[in-house]
Amino acid sequence: MKKALTVVLAGIITTQAFGEHHLKLKPLPNKPPIPADNPMTKEKIELGKFLYFDPRLSGDGSTSCATCHSPEDAWGKNQILSPAYPGNEHFRHSPTILNSAYNSLQFWDGRAKSLEEQAKKPIVSPFEMNLHYDLMIERLKAIAMYREMFKKAFPDEQNPITLENAVKAIASFERTIVCNDSPFDKYLRGDKNALTKKEKLGLKLFTGKAGCIQCHNGANLTDNKFHITGVPKSKAEDRTLARITRNFVLKQAGFKNPDSIDRDLGRYFLTKDPKDKGSFKTPTLRNVALTPPYMHNGAFKTLKEVIEFYNKGGGNVPNKDKALKPLNLTEKEKKALIAFLKALTCENVPYVEEPELPDYDK
Ligand code: HEC
Ligand code: HEC
Repeated sequence: MKKALTVVLAGIITTQAFGEHHLKLKPLPNKPPIPADNPMTKEKIELGKFLYFDPRLSGDGSTSCATCHSPEDAWGKNQILSPAYPGNEHFRHSPTILNSAYNSLQFWDGRAKSLEEQAKKPIVSPFEMNLHYDLMIERLKAIAMYREMFKKAFPDEQNPITLENAVKAIASFERTIVCNDSPFDKYLRGDKNALTKKEKLGLKLFTGKAGCIQCHNGANLTDNKFHITGVPKSKAEDRTLARITRNFVLKQAGFKNPDSIDRDLGRYFLTKDPKDKGSFKTPTLRNVALTPPYMHNGAFKTLKEVIEFYNKGGGNVPNKDKALKPLNLTEKEKKALIAFLKALTCENVPYVEEPELPDYDK
């Protein structure tokens, strides 16, 4: 590949190495996009924080958003498959919510567009929080401090305790769980010494020989699109309880014979288009060193395993994305790529202490 094709200009790395597209890497802006109908206020963010940590948003009071997206685990969950509502096992790995405010697609299959829309789903999901919305509203109404907080967060409304407002508050809180002070951001903003020699080699491979930038691009290192990479099944997916959950999701999606499908086929479960079989959203790579294991099913324990996977040209599946080819990386190059991925880690990852939750009215 010709070196001249990749340039750094005004803090943006642009490459034309992959055809007609100008693929770019940029520093993450200080503020994520904020929807016009949900402006950020101090009061809303504070309410959202309480709701995020409150397990009474689950049927049996056991499970909060933080159970599966934990501040201790860089806002993800460092286990192969996500925790689940008691008595169940999840069939997917829990992604981090850190910087998810910058993404235009939520979930591994992109089935939600906004954080507001996303937050509604786990609350009613029988294997996540398993709470009826009406029951949630009644619970929130029976807590004096929440009545007060909803009033302050939504001062113009007569009856502010609604599902819409609860998820607006949660989404506002999530929009504060962001960071953009990684060595890579500093490098893009002009500090040429922010990356070591090894990390710079990794960046060069990322945008060139290894071709990662074809899918992991933009400020959040995702094209916000879907690709078939052929990630192998993780053993945990075959456990009976995980299979039950997957079958349930398939049933709900209208598949007549869930047992005929033996693995997570990602976006296909949503679109039923055979072209989408095994297609998943390109995840962000920011802070990826903090959020193992990797992929929709936690199939890879380490970044080294991820790099070996790409070095082979991805998995062995039909319809695999054409961008994936064997890379012939040397050991030194593999290490440099991993070093670059680690340089995407923020210096100050936001941490929020679980608040002391208010009791129900006496
Ligand atoms: C029982 C575990 C569990 C609970 C509780 C839970 N989540 Fe999740 N969350 C997951 C899993 C697993 C996924 C990925 C599922 C998928 O893609 O189908 C996910 C996906 C997400 C995403 C999308 C991130 C991305 O990069 O695509 C966001 C945002 C999110 N959850 C926020 C929340 C919020 C807010 C709550 C509380 C209202 C919550 N979650 C409750 C397990 C959980
Ligand atoms: C064809 C598009 C494409 C290319 C090229 C690509 N990726 Fe990915 N990447 C994806 C998709 C899609 C996923 C999620 C796959 C899944 O979960 O099944 C992913 C997942 C990952 C993950 C796991 C992230 C997490 O949080 O679980 C890492 C790390 C990663 N890619 C790094 C790289 C590196 C390094 C390269 C270059 C060697 C690369 N990718 C090239 C599309 C791509």
